Amino acid sequence: MKDHGRVNNYQKQTQISKIAEWVNGESEHMINPSLNRKIDQLRVQINRHNYLYYVLSQPEISDETYDRLMNQLRILEETHPETVTLESPTQRVGNSPSQGFNAISHPLPLLSLANAFNNPDLIAWHKRASNLLNTDDFSLVCELKMDGLAVALTYKNGILIHGATRGDGFRGEDITQNLRTIHSIPLSLSRHISGTLEVRGEVYFPKSHFSKLNEQRIEAGLPPFSNPRNSAAGSLRQLDPKITATRPLDIFIYGLGYAESLPMPSNHWDAIEFIKDLGFKTNPYNEYCTDLSQVQKYYEKWMFQKERLDYDADGIVVKINQFSYQTTLGHVAREPRWAIAYKFPAIQGVTKLLDIGINVGRTGALNPYAVLSPVTIGGVIIKTASLHNEDYIRNKDIRIGDWVVVERAGEVIPQVVIPVVTRRTNTEYEFTMPTNCPSCDSITIRNSDESMYYCLNQQCSAQSLEKLKHFVSREAMDIEGIGSKLCENLFESGLVKRVSDIYKLSFFELKNLDHMADISAKKIIEAINDSKSKSLSRLIFGLGIIHVGLQAAESLSTHFMNLDRLAKSSESELLEIPGIGTTIAGSIIRYFAEIDNLRIVDSLKASGLNIRQSIDYTDMLPFSGLQFVLTGKLGKLTRAMAEAAIVSLGGQVSKNVTHKTNYLVSGSDPGSKFHTAVRFGTTIIHEEDFLDLIDRNRSN
Ligand code: IVH
Repeated sequence: MKDHGRVNNYQKQTQISKIAEWVNGESEHMINPSLNRKIDQLRVQINRHNYLYYVLSQPEISDETYDRLMNQLRILEETHPETVTLESPTQRVGNSPSQGFNAISHPLPLLSLANAFNNPDLIAWHKRASNLLNTDDFSLVCELKMDGLAVALTYKNGILIHGATRGDGFRGEDITQNLRTIHSIPLSLSRHISGTLEVRGEVYFPKSHFSKLNEQRIEAGLPPFSNPRNSAAGSLRQLDPKITATRPLDIFIYGLGYAESLPMPSNHWDAIEFIKDLGFKTNPYNEYCTDLSQVQKYYEKWMFQKERLDYDADGIVVKINQFSYQTTLGHVAREPRWAIAYKFPAIQGVTKLLDIGINVGRTGALNPYAVLSPVTIGGVIIKTASLHNEDYIRNKDIRIGDWVVVERAGEVIPQVVIPVVTRRTNTEYEFTMPTNCPSCDSITIRNSDESMYYCLNQQCSAQSLEKLKHFVSREAMDIEGIGSKLCENLFESGLVKRVSDIYKLSFFELKNLDHMADISAKKIIEAINDSKSKSLSRLIFGLGIIHVGLQAAESLSTHFMNLDRLAKSSESELLEIPGIGTTIAGSIIRYFAEIDNLRIVDSLKASGLNIRQSIDYTDMLPFSGLQFVLTGKLGKLTRAMAEAAIVSLGGQVSKNVTHKTNYLVSGSDPGSKFHTAVRFGTTIIHEEDFLDLIDRNRSN
C-alpha cells in the first residue's frame, strides 16, 4: 500500500473545506474536542488498516481509500500543527537527514547464539541444560533463524521512542528515523503499556524485491548489493530516512528485551503471543515443542522448505520456553545457555583453486587465502576463500590447481572445504608457506603451540596498514569517511604511518589526495575530531592489542577507568579482572612494553584523545528522562529561566504535549496545551509547585 502523500493546492483547498464541514462545520483553525476526536478516529482507522496490510497481509480497503484517509489526516494536521504527535501515522518519514548515528546503550545486552550443526550437537546442548536445571521437564520453542539485522525497539508508555542496531551487543546505533519508515513497526502499541518496553527482532529485505533493487542500482551506476542481508544493512544505514522509506524492509519481532511494567508473560511462547497482541509482526512458523524429536522434525522440514520463504533463513533457533529456567541457565560470554542456533548445512560450490595468496593481518599473522576461479554460491559471487593456516592446507592436501569444494555459511567468510581429488590431472602442486613476510621481507616465525606464522617486525607496513583499518573501523573509533581505500591512500602517500598520525592530518593534506572533494575532506576532519571523545573502551579496542576484543576492552575500561593505569598494570592485577586470563594479560603486558606502542599512546594523548572512562552524569540528574511543556504566562520566571532550570536538572523541554510529556507547567491564561494535557492525563503543575519542585531537587 503506497501513501501517495502529496496533493496539489486545488485538491488541498477542496479537501480542507470538506474536512471543515466534516468536523461539524467548525473553523479549521480552532482546536476543539470534535476536531481532536476526528483526528484520533482517523489515526485509529489508519493504524488498523496499516496493521491489516503490513502485519497480517489481509487488507480490507483499497490503496486509494487508504491514501484518502492519510490525506485527510495530513491536511487536518497541516492546518492544526499543534495536534501533530510523534506517533501519528503521518510522521513515519522524518524530514531531515541525520549527520551520523548516535550510540545507544542497550539496557540489557543483545546476546548472540551458540551453534549446533547436527543432531548430536543439539542433544548435547539439551543435556547440558537439563543437567544444570536438574530436570528435563521443560518445553521448547522452535523459530526460524532469519538472516537479517538484529534491532531493539524501545517504547515508552506505548510510544516508539528508540530503535537501535545490535552493535557490539552492549551499545548499538540509533537508527530510529530509519526504523520508523518500516510499516510493520507500530509507532504506538495497540494497547497501553506503562513504562519502558523493549522488543527485539530481525529486519530483513524481502528476497522478492532484491533483484529489482540491484537492477535500479546498476542503472544508477551504483554497485549492486551482494545479498538481501547487505541490502537490509545498507538501507538501515542511510542517513536520509527518505531513502530508507523507499526500500521494502520488513521485520519479525522474536522476543522481549527490557520490560518495566508488570506482570509480563512467564514464558517465551506466551511472550510471542503478547508481542503479537501489541501489534507487532511475529513469525507465523514459530512452533511449540515438547521434546527434541519434534525439534529435529521442525529443522528437517525447514531445511527443505526454506527456499519458499521471502527471506533468508540460515537455520532454526531453539529456545527453552520457561523464563525462570532461562534465568537459572544464564549465559556464557555472549551466548545464552537457554537457546541455540541449529544451522542448516552450508551451501557449497565447486571451482578451481588458481593460487594461494597471503594476507598479513594487524597482529602479524600470515593468513593464507584461496584465489578462486569466480563461482556463484547461493546467489553470491565468490572469488576468494579462507584457507585458515598451513596445517589446514596440509591436512586436507589442498594443492594449487585443484578443483575444490567451497562452502558459504551465512555471513562467515567462505572457506575451501576439500579438494576434489578425482579431478586431479597431475599438474597440481603443493603450496609452501613463505619463509619471509610477503610485505616487509622479514623472517617469519611459527610458534610451536600455534598453526600460524607471524611476521614479528613491528614496522611491517602491511601490519601497520591493517592496524590503521582496525583503528578507524566502526566497532573501534568509528571514524566515518575513512574506509579501507582511504586508509591505503593515506598509508601509501606517507601521511599516516601509525594510527596516531591520523590526528595530525590537516584539511589541506586530505584535500590534496586523489579523488578527494573539499566537502569530504572537511567531513573527515570533523569525524577525526569527533572521534577524540569516543569512549575509553573503543580506544583500547582500537589499539589492536592482540587478543583484546570488544568485551575485554570493555572490562579493562571499567576496571582501570584510565588508559595510563592500564598501561602501567601488572599481570597479577590484570588477572583479577573477570574474563582476562593469562593469554590476554600477557599480550597487554607485551604491548605496553614496546617503546613504539608507548609512543603511539603518548601521541594520542598529546592530540587530546579521551583516555578516561566517563560516567554519564546526565542519567543521574533528578529530572533525567522527564519531559516538560510550558504554557501560559509565568509570573516569577521568564520562559527562558524556567527552561534553563529544567535542563540544568537533566529534564527536557518540549513545545507540544504528547503522550510522552510528564509535566505541563501552567502559568496564567494557559493555551490549548492545557486541554491536551487534561485529555492525556498529563500531570499539570502550577508555577508555585514548579518552583517548589525545582528548589527541592536543587538542594538534593
Ligand atoms: S534470539 C539470546 N531468535 O540471530 C537470543 N535470534 O546470533 C538471541 N536471529 O543477530 C536472539 N532469528 O538477530 C533469535 N528467531 C530468532 C532469530 C534470531 C534471527 C538473529 C539475531 C542475532 C543472531 C543470534
